[in-house]
Amino acid sequence: MHLDDLIQVVRWEEAEPALRLIRTAVFIHEQRVPEVLEWDEFDAISVHLLACDAAGQPVGTARLLPDGHIGRMAVLKEWRGQGFGSAMLRKLLQELTRRHQQKAQLNAQTNAVPFYEKFGFQVLGEEFMEAGIPHVKMTLLLK
Ligand SMILES: CC(C)(COP(=O)(O)OP(=O)(O)OC[C@H]1O[C@@H](n2cnc3c(N)ncnc32)[C@H](O)[C@@H]1OP(=O)(O)O)[C@@H](O)C(=O)NCCC(=O)NCCS
Repeated sequence: MHLDDLIQVVRWEEAEPALRLIRTAVFIHEQRVPEVLEWDEFDAISVHLLACDAAGQPVGTARLLPDGHIGRMAVLKEWRGQGFGSAMLRKLLQELTRRHQQKAQLNAQTNAVPFYEKFGFQVLGEEFMEAGIPHVKMTLLLK
């Protein structure tokens, strides 16, 4: 099966347990993001991606805010480096193009900058702290 076929577009209310499972493992447990910062009012109004393995187990997620910002990109540690992150980002960029957005924008953790640079994203401005983690703004012009 192709990796792109393992990624679904979901709404928060239909996939909340799986989305919470991945973000809890990656952001709250692994990266020590305070729970109170992890969950916000944007989850209910965002479009979410849910990546599952071939057996249907959740392995990754990301969200697209109503204003077009990409966020909360996460793949469970044991599933990284197998293309799930790239497949999710490709899908989000397709969705932005479908919406006729001129650019993709996100706040990247500085350690994830090389991942986004592979897609042509460029860093904008200075580093800043968010949830105790250094970030930079990144943007990509869409054709
Ligand atoms: C960032 C993340 C989503 C990438 O997911 P992934 O499934 O591992 O990504 P892929 O397998 O598609 O990797 C694509 C490429 O980017 C590289 N890459 C991925 N994460 C990277 C990182 N943090 N630093 C440097 N390179 C990275 C991979 O090595 C791979 O390179 P290759 O094409 O030369 O093999 C994942 O590492 C993750 O969940 N990290 C923890 C949470 C996080 O930091 N999220 C980002 C918030 S801005």
